[in-house]
Amino acid sequence: MPQFDGKVALVTGAGSGIGRAMALRLAGEGAGVMCADVDEQGAQATAARVAERGARAGALALDVSSEAAFAAGLEHTVSELGGLDVLMNNAGVGAGFTWEQTIGVNLNGVYYGLKHACPMLAASGGGAVVNTASIAGLGALVRPGSYTGGPGKLEGVNAYVAAKHGVVGLTRQFAVAFGTQGVRVNAVCPGYIVTPMTEPVRNAEGGSEFLESLHPIGRLGQPEEVAAVAAFLAGPQASFVTGAALPVDGGYSAR
Ligand SMILES: NC(=O)c1ccc[n+]([C@@H]2O[C@H](COP(=O)([O-])OP(=O)(O)OC[C@H]3O[C@@H](n4cnc5c(N)ncnc54)[C@H](O)[C@@H]3O)[C@@H](O)[C@H]2O)c1
Repeated sequence: MPQFDGKVALVTGAGSGIGRAMALRLAGEGAGVMCADVDEQGAQATAARVAERGARAGALALDVSSEAAFAAGLEHTVSELGGLDVLMNNAGVGAGFTWEQTIGVNLNGVYYGLKHACPMLAASGGGAVVNTASIAGLGALVRPGSYTGGPGKLEGVNAYVAAKHGVVGLTRQFAVAFGTQGVRVNAVCPGYIVTPMTEPVRNAEGGSEFLESLHPIGRLGQPEEVAAVAAFLAGPQASFVTGAALPVDGGYSAR
């Protein structure tokens, strides 16, 4: 039996990249999936692909930086798809935003998801949350030149690293707080993944080669490789795993 048969998942940032791969992976393993994104068209496109796989699907316009909207989105998932078992707290923005914008989405957004989903999951008998952190949640980012390419860019990188370290901290805190209530909370920490978020860096001259050189495996990751690990962490085979921040990074953090 597929491991998510009869289960329901909410995936944020499901309109693109890693979130889309998560939605399709969970659907392929039997879950009904609510595809949420601030980009409503992206969410709808993913939901259509989830439905093509024969899974129950919904699309939701959701800005995770609004606490009220996130709480309503969780309730909407329960009313539309009949429950909530898994939250993929994945939505995020890259380094090109202000401190406030980045913290608002990448840290506050993850916190709102945890704050409202964990009690719901506990009340319904248990469940799992997987936060998308980053190698930037485990250490500082290195990149030649471009990270000092102006105050705006530097602010975005600083905020990204601070937010992702915060996501790792929240992962541990909520895992401890809800451990006895049947709610497991883990994080994936991807290295550089081939998604629209990394397009500007990959397309810069020498960008791809430099990024590849940071990963001992010698290449960047694919969104499906992150989704596979996230699905494992959310599923029954990871029943004794909580509070973990698992690198999915081709060895980036091993050096
Ligand atoms: N791509 C990488 O190399 C990489 C590495 C480590 C971590 N991550 C993290 O993975 C997650 C997904 O990134 P991705 O690479 O798939 O990028 P992406 O840009 O392809 O997808 C991100 C999605 O999040 C959505 N989003 C942005 N702000 C939102 C908001 N306020 N509310 C709801 N949705 C919002 C976007 O519309 C988009 O669909 C992010 O948290 C990112 O920080 C990415």
